Amino acid sequence: MSNTQTAAEPLPFGGGWEGAFRADFPILSRTVHGHPLIYLDNGATTQKPRCVIDAMTDEYLNVNANVHRGVHYLSQQATDLHEAARETIRRFINARSTAEIVFTRGTTESINLVAATFGQACMQDGDEVILTAMEHHSNIVPWQLLQARTRIIIKVCPITDDGRLDLEALQQLFTPRTRLLSLTAVSNVLGTVNPIRDIIRMAHAHDVPVLIDAAQAAPHLPLDVQDLDCDFLAFSGHKIYGPTGIGVLYGKEAWLDRLPPYMGGGEMIGKVTFEHTTFNELPYKFEAGTPDYVATTGLARALDYVTAIGLDNIQQHEQALTSYAREQLSQVPGIRFFGPSDDAVISFLVGDIHHLDLGTLLDQLGIAVRTGHHCAEPLMHRLGVEGTVRASFALYNTREEVDALVAGILRIQKMFR
Ligand code: ALA
Repeated sequence: MSNTQTAAEPLPFGGGWEGAFRADFPILSRTVHGHPLIYLDNGATTQKPRCVIDAMTDEYLNVNANVHRGVHYLSQQATDLHEAARETIRRFINARSTAEIVFTRGTTESINLVAATFGQACMQDGDEVILTAMEHHSNIVPWQLLQARTRIIIKVCPITDDGRLDLEALQQLFTPRTRLLSLTAVSNVLGTVNPIRDIIRMAHAHDVPVLIDAAQAAPHLPLDVQDLDCDFLAFSGHKIYGPTGIGVLYGKEAWLDRLPPYMGGGEMIGKVTFEHTTFNELPYKFEAGTPDYVATTGLARALDYVTAIGLDNIQQHEQALTSYAREQLSQVPGIRFFGPSDDAVISFLVGDIHHLDLGTLLDQLGIAVRTGHHCAEPLMHRLGVEGTVRASFALYNTREEVDALVAGILRIQKMFR
């Protein structure tokens, strides 16, 4: 099936769907250490379809010029592509207006932007932000940096032993000093899909706005910011088949209007004198300097690609694959799973084989998995481990690859006996 076809009906698990899109991803046909590449590190970054690579190459070959700055033809063409990309992103998450779509370098920068500017405008000493025990460092450290300037209090919603948020405990964390709840939609370690719609309603009942870290959710689940009613949402291009170094911050216009600029420079200004500067309108107020306008084109192409296949279809495939993988991996003697693996992520340890050894030996078989703390050290402390092995799936992964992973683990396990 070519990437220009729209899948109107959910595709069957095998045959018509499995492997159907692999040819769109040139890198998947390479070998690693003499074995066909089996890429199961999609939670860290996804591979790129040719249409994304082509769109970016084409822009560099035929269009390249700085955006919003020139009257000349190429600058206008580049600006049109850049702003069309913003509209594609608006549509993808169903934001009300392109004024609510801020381009950043990724989820990390988006969260840092909110922590810094929301912290400056809306938080005072003694105010509280609620995070959860399953956040990765990008949604922990920015709040600690803010703490160095304003003595805010960070509260942490605990998780249950089966890797879900303890919603009763969360309810108890809200106080009149709570200013923001910032949480991930999907855990990059546990594969937990959090009930963010209900959580947002819970927070709003306390008049608390919510930032959703959608880095792990955007590639797998349809997201509608108006339906969710989240106040901010962040995601990265490279985890959703787009280029690295580009990401998105969605913010409700009323919030973005209230927040001060994050970085200063060209593009984000109205008028500048040495005495005083006025700032540009949304979203440009938050976009200092030359943006990565080629990456925005690439990201838009990636979102078009995902939309053409259908996020519902992708979700269906990945959930079926994740269940299959959990089932097959259960045959491995001594395997311990961490988290419910609702979607696309399975974390595990095998007996007392160190996660780094297992990952390194799987690599020798051409199988790429992530090992370690997955940028979520506090969660590792909660789980009582130093690290895990993580297999994470994308739309191009197949049951055959899962079988190879299981066979690889069984083979490695024999070496440790
Ligand atoms: N947070 C990314 C991951 O889970 C880097 O691998």
